[in-house]
Amino acid sequence: MDGNGRWAQLRGEPRPEGHRAGAAAVRKIVREARRRGIQALTLFAFSEQNWQRPDFEVNALMSLLLQFLVDERKELLENQIALRAIGRLERLPREVREKLDELARETAPGARMTLTLALSYGGREELVDVFRAMAEEVAAGRLAPEEIDEALVDARLPSVAVGQVDLLIRTGAEQRISNFLLWGAAYAELYFSSKLWPDFEEGDLVAALDHYKTRDRRFGRVADSRPMKTEVAKRGTE
Ligand code: IPE
Ligand code: MG
Repeated sequence: MDGNGRWAQLRGEPRPEGHRAGAAAVRKIVREARRRGIQALTLFAFSEQNWQRPDFEVNALMSLLLQFLVDERKELLENQIALRAIGRLERLPREVREKLDELARETAPGARMTLTLALSYGGREELVDVFRAMAEEVAAGRLAPEEIDEALVDARLPSVAVGQVDLLIRTGAEQRISNFLLWGAAYAELYFSSKLWPDFEEGDLVAALDHYKTRDRRFGRVADSRPMKTEVAKRGTE
């Protein structure tokens, strides 16, 4: 979700105003994703690198996050959306961590969509944490090096608990992954929107999903005998 700061600057407002507008966009997009039957939505809300921003901006983001968690409780429960968080959560303020834990407990039962907030998250950091844990197990004799394979890494990565990434959307006109779900996004379809995140609306999510439907995902294999992708696309919109 990129472009909050520029959105505010374009209006001559302080950057936190952009984050406030960005939080409103999150509400709309989560609701639309749920309505469309998306099973897992992971939002890059705060990166490990974002801690280096000025204190006033980090504080504004943390209080917006807390507010979001308080405000959305009812909506999450009513719509059977499980909330979870990934990242180096120990760096978050205590009240935020407590709220996250409480909501994760409350929203898990009977969920039909999982909303994962990536907070204090970095894709490389997540991998390093898993490698270190595995190395410790190997050193302690609890894990044999030959047991380490892709399936084991999948099973250890918190971001992959909801599955591999099918579609990765980045807003804000930048065309880079910026340390998001590196491992799980190995075969993700990438979709870049030039809209700034606060301007990203339900129709933009639908456009990204429609684009996804036209993709032919081969995973390194050759195309099968399915109809040409234009045919698939046409049928997808019928
Ligand atoms: C939002 O956009 C991402 C967050 C860290 C919450 P930015 O704050 O990166 O906005 P730009 O890129 O400066 O416009
Ligand atoms: Mg940015």
